[in-house]
Amino acid sequence: MLIQQNMAETGGQRAAGFAAAAALVAAASYALYKVYTRQQLLPLAGTSSGRQQLPPPVESVMGAIGNTPLIRIASLSEETGCEILGKAEFLNPGGSVKDRVALRIVQEALSSGRLQPGGLITEGTAGSTGVSLAMVAAAVGCRCFIAMPDDAAIEKAQLLQALGAEVVRLRPVSITHPEHPVNVARRKAADTPGAVFADQFENLANYRAHLGTGREIWQQTRGTLHAFVSGAGTGGTIAGVSQALKDLNPSISIVLADSQGSSLFNKVKRGVLYTWHEAEGKRLKNPFDTITEGVGLNRLTANFAAGVVDDAVRVSDSEAVEMAAYLLRNDGLFLGSSAAVNCVGAVKAARALGPGHTIVTVLCDGGARHLSKFHNPAYLRQYDLTPAATGVPLAGCWGQVE
Ligand SMILES: Cc1ncc(COP(=O)(O)O)c(C=O)c1O
Repeated sequence: MLIQQNMAETGGQRAAGFAAAAALVAAASYALYKVYTRQQLLPLAGTSSGRQQLPPPVESVMGAIGNTPLIRIASLSEETGCEILGKAEFLNPGGSVKDRVALRIVQEALSSGRLQPGGLITEGTAGSTGVSLAMVAAAVGCRCFIAMPDDAAIEKAQLLQALGAEVVRLRPVSITHPEHPVNVARRKAADTPGAVFADQFENLANYRAHLGTGREIWQQTRGTLHAFVSGAGTGGTIAGVSQALKDLNPSISIVLADSQGSSLFNKVKRGVLYTWHEAEGKRLKNPFDTITEGVGLNRLTANFAAGVVDDAVRVSDSEAVEMAAYLLRNDGLFLGSSAAVNCVGAVKAARALGPGHTIVTVLCDGGARHLSKFHNPAYLRQYDLTPAATGVPLAGCWGQVE
């Protein structure tokens, strides 16, 4: 009896031992699998497989714009069970998605004869479009004039000047004021013979540039994507990509990732441009909108209106900051604020769709342009936005689909 009991106990202990060993092996295999899946596509640095056909030389810096890689974001893919892919627009020569737009605006102006070599291209912007326009203008032998608000980071003005642009810095005012950068740039073009106002918000060359981005995404995914997620500033990216993808497969879902303070979410969901700030009795004296840059808007542009957007998710600043820290830590991706907004949007879309779907988003620019704000711990502290950096932010944040 005693022997039987001892044998039963020993058997039980052995079974528990086996179970523990099996769990250990499974955990180790999973860890190895994760490392393997992240590294399997990597040839050893300095070697070449010889199988890949590299493209021939391009004629100028403009030939290096576009055809950006689509990067699998391993951490987000594993967390959601979806394939989450980011279009690496930060690899454009001017450092952002706006290279495509600047190129198309200048090409269309040149081919219509409105702009000639030696002519002037003007824009009112504090953002990446100015940098891209200054680069493309130099490449085609034109000059560039950029009007920008004087509260934008000084590095941007310095960068634009280094690229050869004439820069004027103006007191920040509303778009209805004649001294708003957009109005100053428009006037400068009207007053200068041979000058063209780039007008990225209303000029549909912007949307047309992104028809190409959409076709690249289709090719790179071999048409297997289920959703495309993007924020909107001018709306050119989401409009052009959505149109190109819908033409190829109307069932691909187009989701707007709208940053806090923007009214485009309500435009998509409820048909009206409206922010919670505008609710009666809620308007604050100084509504704090967002620390993200380049995305979010409170007016309807011709470019945004040209798109086909099926759904929208909201993205808070705290989610964007958390995502940027998470992607740097887990994937080595050092991204700007709008790219972080897009990745939060992609996770929310993945949660809504469920595992097994392929979702593409845009990595608009890199983190280096955001060192003084979005990637500055002291700046984030001012807004109580220090990332938690616990390693598993997906568990707590980003669960809510709106
Ligand atoms: C860095 C960055 N990301 C995203 C966007 C938004 O893209 P779009 O203007 O195509 O809506 C912009 C627009 O200025 C931008 O500068």
